[in-house]
Amino acid sequence: MCGIVGYIGHREAYSVIVQGLERLEYRGYDSAGIALYDGTNLNVSKTKGKVADLRSKLETEIPTIGSVGIGHTRWATHGVPNDVNSHPHFSNSGNLVIIHNGIIENYDSLRQELLQRDYKFTSDTDTEVLVNLIEDIKKNEDVKLGKAVQIALNQTIGAYAIAVFDKSKPDEIVVARLGSPLAIGVGKDEFFIASDATPFLEYTKKTVYLKDGEMAIVRRNKKLKVFKIEDNSIVVPYVEELQLNLEQIEKGGYDYFMLKEIYEQPQAIKDTFRGRMLVKEGIVKMAGVDDNLEKFKNARRILIIACGTSWHAGLVAEYIFEEFARVPVEVEYASEFRYRNPVIYEDDVIIAISQSGETADTMAAIKLAKKQGAFVFGVCNVVGSSISRITDAGAYTHAGPEIGVASTKAFTTQITILTLIALRLAQATGKMSNSVFRSYLQELDRIPSKVEEALKCNEKAELVASKYKDVSNALYLGRGYNFPVALEGALKLKEISYIHAEGYPAAEMKHGPIALIDDQMPVFVIAMKKGHYEKVVSNIEEIKARSGKIIAIVTKGDKEVKRLADHVIEIPETLEPLTPILATIPLQLLSYHIALMLGKNVDQPRNLAKSVTVE
Ligand code: AGP
Repeated sequence: MCGIVGYIGHREAYSVIVQGLERLEYRGYDSAGIALYDGTNLNVSKTKGKVADLRSKLETEIPTIGSVGIGHTRWATHGVPNDVNSHPHFSNSGNLVIIHNGIIENYDSLRQELLQRDYKFTSDTDTEVLVNLIEDIKKNEDVKLGKAVQIALNQTIGAYAIAVFDKSKPDEIVVARLGSPLAIGVGKDEFFIASDATPFLEYTKKTVYLKDGEMAIVRRNKKLKVFKIEDNSIVVPYVEELQLNLEQIEKGGYDYFMLKEIYEQPQAIKDTFRGRMLVKEGIVKMAGVDDNLEKFKNARRILIIACGTSWHAGLVAEYIFEEFARVPVEVEYASEFRYRNPVIYEDDVIIAISQSGETADTMAAIKLAKKQGAFVFGVCNVVGSSISRITDAGAYTHAGPEIGVASTKAFTTQITILTLIALRLAQATGKMSNSVFRSYLQELDRIPSKVEEALKCNEKAELVASKYKDVSNALYLGRGYNFPVALEGALKLKEISYIHAEGYPAAEMKHGPIALIDDQMPVFVIAMKKGHYEKVVSNIEEIKARSGKIIAIVTKGDKEVKRLADHVIEIPETLEPLTPILATIPLQLLSYHIALMLGKNVDQPRNLAKSVTVE
């Protein structure tokens, strides 16, 4: 969701900020804006649309000189996406300017109070209320900007990452966070502010990630000052050395990040089990699990909480944990879990899955579970993310940055790490024999090259895409381990091509969805040779009898489904619990090609955000 970039130092702020906003485009947004201080005036330019629109507008609108400024990409919450509601927002005096990611929940009551004190509002945003509240406090209490921000934030309810600039004190920017990420890049006599570190990667690797409830004053040529919003107490900033490099966040010759990330999966999966899976020795080791092995072993049940694609990975894990470790598993949408007064036992183990590590619903669900005494284990991709910090222990997927809004490598690496955890637990509890355990390690080790082989279906996927790109609806069916893959396939199609698609367990078809089948309906069926193959073949027969179009994902060498289906895409054979990793590859490619052929923005689909940091 919204992206924040700021700069203070000796470079031209304009190019640092605009390029930084481009790097944050993946987060999802509908408008963009910038405030630059040229030494005398504080100039703001903003527009509905893309950063490219801002770039062309601002160059004719405001001077692009100056070495301090803040910029923003907005994902609308309060007020429609238009020029006026875009950030930055001025205070009434025109002295203060603010950018904000998050929601101020009590903005309406604050607004009413400010209206009584003759403040005027030009936008519908909660953000304009906040900047005027800060101004009001600064004026009435005669305090500096930092103090005014601190007092104001103690009066707000909600979530935020903000950056505030005061033209009467142009050598500093005040920033704060609660529930939305904020990173500060520490350069030589310069500071960068951003929602994540990608906007300043080429300038500095030294980064301070503000923690929830912290604020900072970044001052030209001075040391960084960090303190707690609650009581102003000083915090010693922890400067991390970033492990990211520029190559990882660039398209590297691909047309879209999504395609690059699909093709990165063999390597990403290898990186997920690197150092954790010792095949020859027959060992799985993961500090986060090993250090808490008793908790895992004694778990009454495992509760998995997540959203979207991560929830689908959780569903695959449910099958895997129950099969391998014989422990009961429940998988919950974090957004439902957090509000339904769930029964949580102290001996439950909660696994929270999140690529970004910033999803607001998952964060809230974790906080609830922790409050009720459960042990929470995080599975995140983004290192240093909020969820990785608030969980009791965890494991990173190490998939590298995922920039395409539609998750691809996040999904397959989440399944990989969850499989490793299940194997470790099964071994520790003796629920899996050593020979079976070893056969899984050997097969997992082969998975990256099998993914490589599965990716060779790209041309076929493109051909199938060209035949079905104009449909309005699609069905995805799978059973057992591959039922969640059907859900994930349908989500991928919906997200980037805007075609209505539904995923179902294949056997559920006859309880309703079969009514939808006619000669216009494409049905994508995952029909692996393992598991419930014969049953799925029967389902395919039922679709065929009703003239549905069948696109089947089959095991290499399959003959039976080939005879029935309109198109088949082959993937290599593997052990049944690992088939979701391979079966998902053609579905990712199909969605990619359909969206591309329809002329959609594959990486930044409408209305969607990469990290969903608001409810
Ligand atoms: C996946 O393609 C989606 N963009 C979305 O469903 C995503 O998986 C969901 O928002 C959860 O995100 P997280 O993994 O970062 O928590």
